[in-house]
Amino acid sequence: MSQKMHKIVRYATMAANSHNTQPWKFAIQSDGVDIYPDYSRRLPVVDPHDRSLWISLGCAIENLTLAANAMGYACNVAYPESEDYIHIRFRKDTARVDSLFNAIPHRQNTRSLYQGKAVSGAELAKLESVGLEGGIILYFIYHTF
Ligand SMILES: Cc1cc2nc3c(=O)[nH]c(=O)nc-3n(C[C@H](O)[C@H](O)[C@H](O)COP(=O)(O)O)c2cc1C
Repeated sequence: MSQKMHKIVRYATMAANSHNTQPWKFAIQSDGVDIYPDYSRRLPVVDPHDRSLWISLGCAIENLTLAANAMGYACNVAYPESEDYIHIRFRKDTARVDSLFNAIPHRQNTRSLYQGKAVSGAELAKLESVGLEGGIILYFIYHTF
């Protein structure tokens, strides 16, 4: 299990995160992983309330659960009251490989120049069809040059 746990955490560390600060610490337990915020990586000027820091931890949770599912574990994610960490516990389950799991090593943020090509209608329709959670609405804002 331990080798698998390290692999799962490795996927979590590939998550998008605020200003590439990687503000997380992982504690591998016998039956899961705990994620701690690493406040030594805070950005008090641009992120005074640690909002982006915690969104980054959310991105890590997403990758971690996708990887655990792919390796045959169901996850229970909990935020213990009055504790400052995320508690994720694994239970043996049928392996489920989500296409988002396969995308983890390929995803990256890019700051290169836009190609100047409009996104095709088919690609926009694909984005629109992504299963959104309740209370979330997706708007496209078009701008023509
Ligand atoms: C909460 C949050 C805010 C971010 N804000 C920006 C941003 O304003 N501009 C930007 O170019 N990238 C932004 N990013 C992307 C990160 O800079 C990027 O994920 C990080 O540098 C790691 O690179 P990678 O995603 O290629 O692995 C943000 C990411 C997160 C999670």
